[in-house]
Amino acid sequence: MMHSWLLAAHIVVLGYWLGSELVINSQYRFVTHRHDLDFAARDAVMDHLMDADQHVRYALILQLMLGVMLCAGLGLLPAIAFWGALGGGALWLALVELVHRHRKSARGKSLAAADRGPRYLLIAGLPLAALVLTDWPLWLRLKIALFAGIMLCGVGIRFALIHHFALWARLAAGDGGDSVEAGIRRTYWHATAMLMLLWVFIAAITVLAVMKP
Ligand code: HEM
Repeated sequence: MMHSWLLAAHIVVLGYWLGSELVINSQYRFVTHRHDLDFAARDAVMDHLMDADQHVRYALILQLMLGVMLCAGLGLLPAIAFWGALGGGALWLALVELVHRHRKSARGKSLAAADRGPRYLLIAGLPLAALVLTDWPLWLRLKIALFAGIMLCGVGIRFALIHHFALWARLAAGDGGDSVEAGIRRTYWHATAMLMLLWVFIAAITVLAVMKP
């Protein structure tokens, strides 16, 4: 019974994740292209976009938590992994929230570094786990390797956003102009290309999970 509820939650989080990504990308397109608005209006939408962006961050962690809990339910991982995923996931969600709340301060930068650490470990560790867990079904091994791809795309989007915020700061300082606006548009397309690849990985994971080849 518990396993069925976890599976239902795993599928609900898929919808939550994709829906949030669509809304965020639409807001990002808005702030990128509406240079006819004054900066204060664009910046207010940018700030709201960063609030909305929290949802995809939650979704990634929730999906990993639920995935590990499902694996424990199937006996592929020891029962302790269930509680580890629940506790570790809750702590990670709290850290993501703190990073967001302190994002405009120096403390936010060190918190963000603490959040990046486990991501890099998972990006390296999940494909390795997919290789060594030879007693796991192939679809699941492929799934966890593709999940590392999703996390890598997330890091790529963050790097694109560093560039976006550098240009945004120039707009805020009144140092805009055609070249800054063109740079913001270019960065939007880099981040969106990365997002599309992320969606391809999510689609592939979903097909693997349903077909279980
Ligand atoms: C973007 C990430 C993910 C998506 C979109 C996703 C999607 C899905 C879907 C749609 C199912 C249901 C398949 C069905 O019953 O027909 C499923 C099942 C499952 N997922 Fe995921 N998943 C993701 C990440 C993960 C991760 C990271 C793990 C493991 C760490 C995982 C472990 C599992 C397991 C074990 C099942 C099968 C449960 C069962 O058959 O009882 N998933 N997944």
